[in-house]
Amino acid sequence: MKLSRIISNQNGISRQRANALIATGHVKVNGRICREPRHEVSQFCTVAIDEETIRTACPAHYLMLNKPAGYLSATVDDAHPTAVELIDMNLRTALHIAGRLDRASTGLLILTNDGNWSRRLTEPRIKKPKVYKVTTESPISAEAHQRFKDGIWFEYEQLRTSPAHIEELSECQARVTIYEGRYHQVKRMFRAVGNRITSLHRESMGSIQLDPELMPGQYRTLTAAEVDSV
Ligand code: URA
Repeated sequence: MKLSRIISNQNGISRQRANALIATGHVKVNGRICREPRHEVSQFCTVAIDEETIRTACPAHYLMLNKPAGYLSATVDDAHPTAVELIDMNLRTALHIAGRLDRASTGLLILTNDGNWSRRLTEPRIKKPKVYKVTTESPISAEAHQRFKDGIWFEYEQLRTSPAHIEELSECQARVTIYEGRYHQVKRMFRAVGNRITSLHRESMGSIQLDPELMPGQYRTLTAAEVDSV
């Protein structure tokens, strides 16, 4: 919400008076004077007029979970356990998943209540790398390397995937880097080159790496540096 709107939502303050208060340095956002009436204020910001707090920041949560196989990337489901159910009750409220993993897939899952932040991590146009370790049914072909590099046509979305990279670890194992996060993207890319994935494990998103200390089902809060990297 715009800062001027927050101020003018206070009893008895007109929009004009709100703009004047802001312009003359009476308003602080997160403890710092803000003179821009159009400044966008998220729910994670504190706002004060002359040292009187008129809006308290709601706490932002940023978590990484080592998702075990068999858990849905969802909050609730009638048929299957969900990733959010692995999170402590008092942290769960309003969490959403920043970049789902399929039920059988494992590894780095990020949960937050900060929608702007998670969009920066997952929006295809922002092109943050996502790294997956995969096992395939058949040996990875030279054609797969080239087709991944050229981008693969997704008929349903009518788009070509951004260039992706395969680092072969053995005949049927590779580390794959993609720069989007489309529905079943890695599986569909392998299917397009006549192969099939038998296991998929996410190692990183952007510069956030899955913490090797986390056993499947365990989670921790992201560090300030991890949050700021997005
Ligand atoms: N691509 C897939 O196919 N599945 C996932 O879970 C993540 C990326």
